[in-house]
Amino acid sequence: MAYKVAVVGATGNVGREMLSVLSERKFPASEVVALASTRSTGTDVSFGDGTLKIKALDYYDFHGTDICLMSAGSSVSKEWSPRIAAQGAIVIDNSSQWRMDREVPLVVPEVNADALNTIKKGIIANPNCSTAQLVVALKPLHDAAKIKRVVVSTYQSVSGAGKEAMDELFRQTRAVFVADPIEKHKFTKQIAFNVIPHIDVFLDSGYTKEEWKMMVETQKILDPDIQVVATCVRVPVFIGHSEAVSIEFENPITADRARTILRSAPGVLVIDKREDEGYITPVEAAGEDATYVSRIRKDPTVENGLLLWVVSDNLRKGAALNTVQIAEVLINRKLITPKRKAA
Ligand SMILES: NC(=O)c1ccc[n+]([C@@H]2O[C@H](COP(=O)([O-])OP(=O)(O)OC[C@H]3O[C@@H](n4cnc5c(N)ncnc54)[C@H](OP(=O)(O)O)[C@@H]3O)[C@@H](O)[C@H]2O)c1
Repeated sequence: MAYKVAVVGATGNVGREMLSVLSERKFPASEVVALASTRSTGTDVSFGDGTLKIKALDYYDFHGTDICLMSAGSSVSKEWSPRIAAQGAIVIDNSSQWRMDREVPLVVPEVNADALNTIKKGIIANPNCSTAQLVVALKPLHDAAKIKRVVVSTYQSVSGAGKEAMDELFRQTRAVFVADPIEKHKFTKQIAFNVIPHIDVFLDSGYTKEEWKMMVETQKILDPDIQVVATCVRVPVFIGHSEAVSIEFENPITADRARTILRSAPGVLVIDKREDEGYITPVEAAGEDATYVSRIRKDPTVENGLLLWVVSDNLRKGAALNTVQIAEVLINRKLITPKRKAA
């Protein structure tokens, strides 16, 4: 069986990665359609060995489409996801628009694939990139020793803010070297040779929305009883989010046991040698599928505590890969059937 797939936001960072992941994983697609705004109509995007011509979302008829992978931001998703679902396609959305809707499953397949058994609105949400890699690492440890509290500080790459943000880091870096003025458009402060403790808008609580998203999304995906607190920081890295994670457990768990558990956990690769280069950095994680865990060690300041360093490619596990994995679960569990039978 093969499925007609639409990718909305196909010219963007996540959309282009979705097309790569679909091709690499030989997704059973009868047809892949690349959509973006009218600004991009007619331009080419790479797909496998060839290219696809971008069509305009505004004029596209989704009748006959089985799966729509959305990555065009919240406002586009707010308007379009219900319309696309009403035309019969299952929408898997990367924006924050639907994540906390009670009738929309928020899914990381390694953690809560069963949430896909009830898709009331025809929409499935993909979590925030920082949340996705965090819960992949937390889930096996939670199963083993029950997590009570998580304190996480992130070091998030600029690709998480879209393709224009990557261009801004590049331009500012160049400007520093040639002593040109620094121009800011996407980031509120200079990002080149700097770090910015501000991602998404500020809330009345003093947290940023990115920090709030990590807290509530982790609870929705993993366990509402886990207390989570986050500090989210943008760093001048192109691809790959890193996280320093402090975990407090209900039950005792040693660093050695955690390392053994994580070594056999789905989606996780442990690189933890306690020597020079015996850990992962974003540069090595870019382009890879795994959530890497390094620096596993005891936290002596709490009764049952561990510290971890978690790194993953935010465009892959944090977005495109997770989206495609959700679509694969729908197919493997026969939660979706193609509208048109393959010839
Ligand atoms: N980057 C990450 O790590 C990450 C992780 C998880 C989730 N997400 C989410 O994924 C979404 C996309 O992120 P991104 O990083 O790929 O952004 P991006 O690089 O800025 O790309 C945005 C895409 O949306 C399209 N678009 C914008 N307005 C549109 C409209 N009115 N109609 C149709 N298409 C429109 C753009 O098309 P044009 O080129 O034609 O303008 C482009 O293809 C966002 O919701 C983001 O929060 C991103």
